[in-house]
Amino acid sequence: MSTIIKEFSRFAHAYDSHNMIQAEVAKRLVSKLPKKHYSSILELGAGSGEVTKNLAKHRIDYAHLMAFDSSVNMLSLHPSADNIVKIAGDFNKRDFADTLAQKEYELILSSSALQWSQDLDFTLEQLSKLSKQLHAAIFTSNTFKTLHRTAGVTSPIYSAERLQEALSKYYKSVTFEVHTYTLYFDSVREMFRYIKKSGVSSGEKKLSYKETRSLMKKYPLDYLEFEVLFVEARNIDKIA
Ligand SMILES: C[S@@+](CC[C@H](N)C(=O)[O-])C[C@H]1O[C@@H](n2cnc3c(N)ncnc32)[C@H](O)[C@@H]1O
Repeated sequence: MSTIIKEFSRFAHAYDSHNMIQAEVAKRLVSKLPKKHYSSILELGAGSGEVTKNLAKHRIDYAHLMAFDSSVNMLSLHPSADNIVKIAGDFNKRDFADTLAQKEYELILSSSALQWSQDLDFTLEQLSKLSKQLHAAIFTSNTFKTLHRTAGVTSPIYSAERLQEALSKYYKSVTFEVHTYTLYFDSVREMFRYIKKSGVSSGEKKLSYKETRSLMKKYPLDYLEFEVLFVEARNIDKIA
């Protein structure tokens, strides 16, 4: 298990109150879906079910939904239903597709998770084989831009350009939308608490206590920056 996965699990119960941005992102991703019914959906990094809850709100239904996530704790918070199957697994593992009972889906949905793909080409090739349609929201390296600059570290996640280039390789038609979010805080202390609990920072080089104290003093903004790439990718001409 990598550090990313551990951090999400550790705050699983507190997570729902610390995921304001991810909740906004999931809402937007679902609102952009063009259809009201899907035969099968594979949801990657499904977590506690923000996307599934939004599908219900928008009255978008499906015959089957596979909720795939590496954290069993997060999946236990995901809504259950007769047409929902929860699978614990890691999309970075080479045998990822083998762990799925079903090998073809009408749609793959993924909100706030694919930034943790360790090998974009591997992940996107697998996804393009599993479904002709991918709708995803992916955090980019401009997330915490000023924080990273102040700390003198580079973002551990992909830039929007790198994501766009890789996606265009595996899908015939891709449309992108870059969306930025700003989250204000009353104090720097609260801001840092949010970063730790949100799960967005997972995988970053861990700063020591002293480095964190110094960063908190130097950080020039009273808000955090987020950038998300919304992707609609297809290998079909028309949506049936
Ligand atoms: C920020 S949360 C987003 C959860 C949900 N999609 C939402 O919009 O609220 C990211 C999720 O991706 C999962 N995740 C991270 N890396 C993963 C991997 N390699 N394989 C499967 N799931 C992963 C985490 O466990 C976590 O539940």
